[in-house]
Amino acid sequence: MPVYPLAPRGTIAPGKLFADQHGAVAQLHGVGIQHLDGLFYAWGEDKSAGATFAGVACYSSPDLATWTSHGHALTADPGVPDIAPGRVVERPKVLRRADGTCVMLLHIESPDYSCARLGWAVSDQPAGPYRYLRSERPKGNVSRDIGVFQDDDGTGYVLSEDRANGLHIYRLSADLLHVEEIVSTTLTKPGAHPAGPHGYESPALVKAGGLYYLVGSDLTGWSTNDNQVATATSPTGPWSDWADIAPPGTATYDSQTSVIVTVRGTQTTSHVYVGDRWIKDDLFHSAPVWLPMEIGDGRARLRWHDSWTINPVTGVVAGQPSAPPG
Ligand code: GAL
Repeated sequence: MPVYPLAPRGTIAPGKLFADQHGAVAQLHGVGIQHLDGLFYAWGEDKSAGATFAGVACYSSPDLATWTSHGHALTADPGVPDIAPGRVVERPKVLRRADGTCVMLLHIESPDYSCARLGWAVSDQPAGPYRYLRSERPKGNVSRDIGVFQDDDGTGYVLSEDRANGLHIYRLSADLLHVEEIVSTTLTKPGAHPAGPHGYESPALVKAGGLYYLVGSDLTGWSTNDNQVATATSPTGPWSDWADIAPPGTATYDSQTSVIVTVRGTQTTSHVYVGDRWIKDDLFHSAPVWLPMEIGDGRARLRWHDSWTINPVTGVVAGQPSAPPG
């Protein structure tokens, strides 16, 4: 049994696992994160059963480094085919409605990845319990990896990967429970792939300085690749050319984007890249690779940090960039 290093509690150490308040390995895989009621809430894939569904785990943290487990926000239910044990349920992403209730969007799958649907669950509280509602293929489209985004006016969007048809951004209804329309679709860099263009996956959207930054990874399953960013002045696009977010050839420091968190502090607004370093045969121990993300002027850049923290009050990052481990 390999030894998996844990990050010292209260620090973010990319490549090392977070432990919760009981010392258990936090299941922050494919995670969605929101700042609600003064805390960061995270909903992650619990990989206790490997690739198949064991529940959506919920954690909270004051500082993105000290995590408290709240158990399962959504539990596996043998009576509900979409979320029954043995199914695949990935990338839980939560949005909050104006009335304070929460909506969880999910990638609902079969073990052979042919199901490819978008699912919904709702709760009165961030930590749940969530009540599963239903799934669909949005506008009839295949929907695999997802991300969510809520604009300043409360409009919700879901980002959804649809193979050769691209990465779609759908606008959601005001209650966040329905897909209204596709507002834009992007494809990989022209000529970048001999097999032809397709959509980036593990999509994340963040707004900074009036620009929208769309980040995603290439389609290489549990293997990592050089994740990309494109920008636009609106979720409707048009989107710029794609650019690397980390030194090319590092496969994004061996990680795949899950979400980008905005930390609005009294001194500065910082961004945190939240990525997964998947271990295909031991998904439970897949490590978080979370790094400060420098975003501005149409560029988004990661620099390796062995260990760092962020002050949630001021927004200031503490820790120095260094060479990544060989
Ligand atoms: C990746 C995806 C993961 C998971 C994996 C399964 O492409 O980003 O969320 O679905 O494939 O092979």
